[in-house]
Amino acid sequence: MLIRWEEKFATGNALVDAQHRTLFDAVNAFDTAVQSGVAASQISKLLQFLDEYSQEHFACEEFLMLRAEFPRLPLHQQEHASLVSRVKFLKELRETDSSMVPVHGVASFLANWLENHILRWDMEFFDYIRDYPIDEP
Ligand SMILES: [Fe+2]
Ligand SMILES: [Fe+2]
Repeated sequence: MLIRWEEKFATGNALVDAQHRTLFDAVNAFDTAVQSGVAASQISKLLQFLDEYSQEHFACEEFLMLRAEFPRLPLHQQEHASLVSRVKFLKELRETDSSMVPVHGVASFLANWLENHILRWDMEFFDYIRDYPIDEP
């Protein structure tokens, strides 16, 4: 298992926490699939899910930030967009030539990105709304 849920990841928002857990599960499933050498089509499917689900999650966070008039929303959006474009690049590369994608490194890259992003960027927002509370969606 590459990334495990711990209390330090709790944002205080039940929906966002559930989405983060789903992303952790998806990264771990991707890693397990890569390690066990499943079919390339299965790897692509898992990558597709990660791509779609992370975008759904980012949209949800950005909506909360917009509603809270979070001043650092544009910077946070850039962080999200950079991950989306990296995943898009990996997907496109796989479609062109799957042997070009170092899948072993992709799962750990995603796990590290998620850990750092949640602890640094997401927490910054959830600390902010503790001072300026909004209703949960
Ligand atoms: Fe997040
Ligand atoms: Fe985020």
